[in-house]
Amino acid sequence: MNLRVRPCQVLHGSATVPGDKSISHRALLLNAIAQGVGRVRNWLPAADCQATLSAVRALGVRVEQPSPTELLVHGVGLRGLRPPAAAIDCQGSGTTMRLLAGILAGQPFTSTLDGHAGLRRRPMERIAIPLREMGAAVETHAGRPPLTITGGNLRGVDYRLPVASAQVKSAILLAGLYAEGPTTVRQPGPARDHTERMLKAQGADLVTQDNVITLTPDSHPLAPCSLVIPADFSSAAFPLVAASLVPNADLHLERVGVNPTRTGLLDVLRQMGAGVTLLDQSEQGGEPVADLVVRPNGLQGVEVRGDTVVRMIDEFPIFAVAATQAQGKTLVRDAHELRVKETDRIAAVVAELRAMGASIEEREDGFVVQGPTRLRGARVHSHGDHRLAMALVVAGLVAEGETVIEGTEVIADSFPGFVGLMQNLGAEVGER
Ligand code: S3P
Repeated sequence: MNLRVRPCQVLHGSATVPGDKSISHRALLLNAIAQGVGRVRNWLPAADCQATLSAVRALGVRVEQPSPTELLVHGVGLRGLRPPAAAIDCQGSGTTMRLLAGILAGQPFTSTLDGHAGLRRRPMERIAIPLREMGAAVETHAGRPPLTITGGNLRGVDYRLPVASAQVKSAILLAGLYAEGPTTVRQPGPARDHTERMLKAQGADLVTQDNVITLTPDSHPLAPCSLVIPADFSSAAFPLVAASLVPNADLHLERVGVNPTRTGLLDVLRQMGAGVTLLDQSEQGGEPVADLVVRPNGLQGVEVRGDTVVRMIDEFPIFAVAATQAQGKTLVRDAHELRVKETDRIAAVVAELRAMGASIEEREDGFVVQGPTRLRGARVHSHGDHRLAMALVVAGLVAEGETVIEGTEVIADSFPGFVGLMQNLGAEVGER
């Protein structure tokens, strides 16, 4: 599917983006192994989370879905999963594959996890190595999916993550629930902590100190976790940046998750001079939430590196668009991980924004942008990456002339309703 976007002068109104993708995966997986029924509201009915839903059903968990965004997960307890009848299809979802691998490492049966071509290119030794160290047999195909896991009889580990990855951290902690003795994960930076928050809410003995997390398994079952999932900050990032750039914008985003391990983009945009205000800060589902009010303001170039990269790891495609409109140089470093996301996000973002006239250059671990540049409408491509597709829509709003983005069906991987939401705010974007 192609989307056509025209330049935009006014972006105005209130919007609610869908539920958080990371928390939606976890609400299913952690309730599946809890004892009792968890009621999950504002669940994200996007393709990636549907893969997790099908996976837990394939493992014998009953999940009712009274509406697209509400689930009743009938947890079977830590040891109640059943061997799946066939390989589990994780579609394009790395989170499904890596988190589920942690749970399957604790099961006394063999299972296989597979996915689409895009997922089959992504590195899996990063979870296989620690899970093997814990005692599971994990086979990969030259380090990539499919994965075949034979679990059971795990021992706790003390594992130093080579990269700050919430997926790897979560896989190890989930396996740790099944292990003999405590499991410690040492992360080099503050990767998102939704798994830790939810496990604690379920009664697990989990302690975090700085970047060290220790889980001590005990004989208590996990309690079900009923929650209303906050709106996804990573989805809010697209209208948020759009409203920072479109000349006459005034945007109110409701009940957005503002967990500090996720909001690096907010800090960086504010450092650049963006007009973003947080209102009514509170807690929802064990996570901090707030309304975001955004008005355009001149942006200055900035340098992004270190822990901030970890806290905005999914936001670089849209951040690059903001950087093209900022005064001066923007430099992103320490972001090698972008090369193994849905696509090589450094190469893909640079190629597509260059096609629109941006002055952006690839670096091995990031990119450098010289701004501001008046972007030109062009024919660009998503590279099969939902976040790049949406970033290019926002680029089209501030470009001269018409932009056509090819391959935009992938937007449904994380943000169903994105086009309608942008149209309601006044953007001229539609199918072509
Ligand atoms: C996610 C963790 C991040 C992120 C991904 C979702 C999660 O990946 O990029 O979109 O839900 O745990 P890494 O753990 O590979 O950094």
